[in-house]
Amino acid sequence: MTKKIIIFGLASNKILKELYFENTNTVAISLLDYLLKHGITVASSCKGEGKCKKCVVNSNLLSCQIDMNNLPKKEEFKVEIAYL
Ligand code: FES
Repeated sequence: MTKKIIIFGLASNKILKELYFENTNTVAISLLDYLLKHGITVASSCKGEGKCKKCVVNSNLLSCQIDMNNLPKKEEFKVEIAYL
């Protein structure tokens, strides 16, 4: 299933990018890595180890700890980033 990923910047109050993710369940990729791969700036200083807590999206989710293949089973997933 292809899922639409909406990147929304809370500081700018606008949609920054719309991406499409194909769930393959074969290759694990974190939301943090996915965002960085698509040019979205996300703060991080522990490189995804879950320690720095800088990669927060949607108020309280650590993007480095979210597997893209396990996103909620909806057609769209909105990612809100406070400082963008
Ligand atoms: S990158 Fe450090 S907690 Fe997510």
